[in-house]
Amino acid sequence: MQDLLTIIFCTTVILSIIAVIWLEYDYYKVKVSAVSSVPWMRRAVHDVLQKELIANGVKPKVIYELGSGWGPLVMDAAKLFPAARVIGVEFSFLAAHFSRFRAFLFDRKNVEIRRNDFFKENLGDADLIIFYMLEVILERLSPKMIAELPKGAIIVSNTFTIKGWEPVAVHEVMKKPIPLKVYVYKVPDSLPKEA
Ligand SMILES: C[S@@+](CC[C@H](N)C(=O)[O-])C[C@H]1O[C@@H](n2cnc3c(N)ncnc32)[C@H](O)[C@@H]1O
Repeated sequence: MQDLLTIIFCTTVILSIIAVIWLEYDYYKVKVSAVSSVPWMRRAVHDVLQKELIANGVKPKVIYELGSGWGPLVMDAAKLFPAARVIGVEFSFLAAHFSRFRAFLFDRKNVEIRRNDFFKENLGDADLIIFYMLEVILERLSPKMIAELPKGAIIVSNTFTIKGWEPVAVHEVMKKPIPLKVYVYKVPDSLPKEA
């Protein structure tokens, strides 16, 4: 019995070390940790999707979440928009595979998880983009979105603004202790001047 417990303990420790090294390697590649957004921010994004899109009869056919992490928002978006294809793009191997398993487990057939760098994805078929991404990364993403996204495609950004873009709506989630907002953008005709 003691031998079995020792084997289980050692296996758990080894697997945990491998997982941490793997996550650190993915962080080193993309400079963003595979952490989940906090539940109240996800709730805020959920509310924005309902107020800005569903309430206004907007029916996106293809939704991307860029940097979909462990999959909570992809799952939520797939439930909110059952007729849409919801594509999560995630670089972290562990997070991407966990999300796939989650979609399988909860039978979300309209979810597709791509384990890839989103800079290498063509976003040309997207009607709606969701992300929770640092401003420096959004600045690099800006010209790609202008070049590839159809005009009028909607972008919902959790917390961070896209430099040089004018949001069409800003939803305040909380003022204190940290001001948190969800920004809604529409893809303009050309690259904003300061971007
Ligand atoms: C702050 S987390 C947000 C996770 C998820 N969206 C959520 O709200 O829980 C950002 C995620 O983006 C991923 N990421 C960062 N840069 C990426 C890239 N270039 N391609 C794909 N995924 C990327 C990270 O691995 C991380 O999981």
